[in-house]
Amino acid sequence: DSEDEGDQEYLFKVVIIGDSAVGKSNLLSRYARNEFNMHSKATIGVEFQTQSMDIDGKEVKAQIWDTAGQERFRAVTSAYYRGAVGALIVYDISRRSTFESVGRWLDELNSHSDTTVVRMLVGNKCDLENIRDVSVEEGKNLAETEGLFFIETSALDSVNVKKAFEIVIREIY
Ligand code: GTP
Ligand code: MG
Repeated sequence: DSEDEGDQEYLFKVVIIGDSAVGKSNLLSRYARNEFNMHSKATIGVEFQTQSMDIDGKEVKAQIWDTAGQERFRAVTSAYYRGAVGALIVYDISRRSTFESVGRWLDELNSHSDTTVVRMLVGNKCDLENIRDVSVEEGKNLAETEGLFFIETSALDSVNVKKAFEIVIREIY
């Protein structure tokens, strides 16, 4: 509608990737709608949400794409990454295997996008401190080695979720 026209100066595509059940969909729903679902189903195909934020008085819109971590539910990979300028690579701090997959996700990202894509490594579920399986230090080290931003989040407790997206969007801008 006319209200939306004219002043939308920036629209950035950001993709979320990572193994199944690390919390990608809940990070997005927490950020875009302030919702969390304890029993969310695995994503099939692709979903996206558009979220606005204000940076230095300018309205910046991010179109955030979320897909399935499970291979059999994934959409066409090249279409998913096309035009992306930011990426969140998510693992679950309570499941080491999801951290060990980060390299594979980075390979896929790198082969479908150029090096200017802003990348954030996200250790989600930091509320599960009692069953932590990946230390903060390990996350930081990997991020440093790979040239990524790094943050730990909890979609459940709303910790650092907004920050994770906004650091990426601000950096793109
Ligand atoms: P796929 O769509 O299969 O790729 O999974 P996903 O990465 O989108 O995971 P999803 O957001 O569906 O979350 C998987 C499960 O983890 C759900 O039961 C969520 O409730 C739970 N979950 C997500 N984020 C958190 C979190 O920060 N803390 C805790 N404790 N549980 C979480
Ligand atoms: Mg999902």
